[in-house]
Amino acid sequence: MKSFSLNSFFSKFPNIDLGNIRLRDLSLRDAENYYKLFADPKVSEHLSDEDVPKSIAAAMEDVKFWGSVFYRKQGVFWAIGNEKDDQLIGTIGFNSWNFHNKRGEISYDLMSEYWGQGIMTKVVTNVMVFAFSKMDMYRIEARTMEGNERSQKLLRKIGFKEEGILKGYRIINGDPKDIALFSLIRPDFSGNLLSK
Ligand SMILES: CC(C)(COP(=O)(O)OP(=O)(O)OC[C@H]1O[C@@H](n2cnc3c(N)ncnc32)[C@H](O)[C@@H]1OP(=O)(O)O)[C@@H](O)C(=O)NCCC(=O)NCCS
Repeated sequence: MKSFSLNSFFSKFPNIDLGNIRLRDLSLRDAENYYKLFADPKVSEHLSDEDVPKSIAAAMEDVKFWGSVFYRKQGVFWAIGNEKDDQLIGTIGFNSWNFHNKRGEISYDLMSEYWGQGIMTKVVTNVMVFAFSKMDMYRIEARTMEGNERSQKLLRKIGFKEEGILKGYRIINGDPKDIALFSLIRPDFSGNLLSK
């Protein structure tokens, strides 16, 4: 790979076109769908309270915050836009990126009406390819609540390995919950789901 430059990486937001879906920059017009995404109890069931906006105004603040991580040169957070009208149907991004250690943490969420169609398998796989090849990452982490079978199955399918349990790591609906830590390192990633 040619030498990686953070300045050049952060010079232009990296939209990713996946044919029937688009990973693009978040904008304030996404606030309503962002609110709808997390207002669905099926989506918020396995998430920390702090990640779930309680009003459109709060969603607006979250969209501003996550939409600015790229411009603050801290990470990348994409809206997942649908084919028909590019409306936000989910999000994916690196909420932390440790440049020195080439390590990032991924998070993702999808509106429940789109579940089970392979959308997130395609999105996460392509984001892994992007992170390993264009962000110079070596290790990617994901944290999921114990019992979030869908998310864990998705991670395993892509090649992530479970490393252990973080006890009482997140407060969900007021209760401390255990979290499973997953990771994928560059040499273990085959990207073989890309062709499917
Ligand atoms: C986790 C999530 C992103 C998965 O998205 P998706 O587009 O439905 O995922 P895919 O369709 O690509 O693949 C999911 C896999 O889980 C499987 N699955 C579906 N329902 C399942 C269930 N109840 N239990 C276990 N696995 C299940 C699917 O069969 C599929 O595997 P397969 O392709 O081998 O059949 C989505 O369900 C979601 O947004 N959940 C709520 C928020 C969340 O949990 N985010 C992650 C926080 S770590």
